[in-house]
Amino acid sequence: MNRLSQALSKTFIFPDNPRMADEHLSQVMPAADTRIRTLVLSGRHLLNQKGNHSPTAVKTARTKQDAMERKTGGGGGGGKEGGKVVLIDPSLVFRPEEAIKKSGWNFRNFETDLTNQWMDTVKQTYLNMHTHQCVEYVQKKHKEWGQFNKFKSTIMEALVKLNDLVDESDPDVQVPNIIHAFQTAERLREAHPEKEWLHLTGLIHDLGKVMAFYGEPQWSTVGDTFVVGCAFPSSIVYRDSTFHNNPDLKNPKFNTKHGMYEPNCGLRNVFISWGHDEYMYQVLKHNKCTLPEEAMYIIRFHSFYPWHTGKDYMHLCDNRDLEMLPWIREFNKFDLYTKKEKVPDIESLMPYYQSLIDKYCPGVLSW
Ligand SMILES: [Fe+2]
Ligand SMILES: [Fe+2]
Repeated sequence: MNRLSQALSKTFIFPDNPRMADEHLSQVMPAADTRIRTLVLSGRHLLNQKGNHSPTAVKTARTKQDAMERKTGGGGGGGKEGGKVVLIDPSLVFRPEEAIKKSGWNFRNFETDLTNQWMDTVKQTYLNMHTHQCVEYVQKKHKEWGQFNKFKSTIMEALVKLNDLVDESDPDVQVPNIIHAFQTAERLREAHPEKEWLHLTGLIHDLGKVMAFYGEPQWSTVGDTFVVGCAFPSSIVYRDSTFHNNPDLKNPKFNTKHGMYEPNCGLRNVFISWGHDEYMYQVLKHNKCTLPEEAMYIIRFHSFYPWHTGKDYMHLCDNRDLEMLPWIREFNKFDLYTKKEKVPDIESLMPYYQSLIDKYCPGVLSW
């Protein structure tokens, strides 16, 4: 792990007092230049605002989340360790699709070891998700997060926040999300050097996971997504064993092929289970970011596996969706990673990505 990552991992134990925080930064990262110092220290100030994820706020959020998860029958596997919010993104742990298995992408085979604790965690997350994500719930989340009144920050500051979100998909490595962001971006840059918008898309595609710092449960932040308001197709992971308590099953209107939607109405007109994809899309739209439509599609639908990989829901798509689908499939190859990947030198990459942020989504955003 490089020096910046090391320093960032200690951001949250910085004192509130600016002078003491500055001294502390000098100790943990003596060689930091002005740009890095500003970034780290501004991240610290952001954390100390009301409603943010200072260590106390994280604790409160986690306590609320734990209480909610206890109430709704299961935790989804998250936990807090030393001020970190631990998320396990099931999309990155368990992929049952034959197409992905044959592709050679490197996944641990959880299916063959059902006693594996991670498999239990994955299934529990999906059980909670498939129990509680219904039309009413998703519409409620659109209203709640659609006010964009949770916090204000630049894209880079939000990335720093993600450093305290450990995607603990693999018990052998704990990769902070900021590392995953830079790895994805750099892999895309290598394969598509001329498409700078795609590099930035890689960097920010998971930024919506910051919802986890504000009490949003795992099953409402990460994992594969699906459409609510129409029949649940068989391509959804654990379709047969996790939906039995979903309230929408009791409403005949929601249980036909098209449900509450018109044929080929376009995915922009359907409600998809709430998670980091939709939230980040809405944040970018609300803040008038100028990324191209392809980028917005990738961010909005990269976890929508029953569609982009399972090939379901085509009857709800319009021509634009089908034109954009190859981009999402291309992107996903770079999002699914192997744990052997080397950690990028974030510090040296920072200026390039900051220039892309300045071009496409500059300044302070409302989240
Ligand atoms: Fe994601
Ligand atoms: Fe990702």
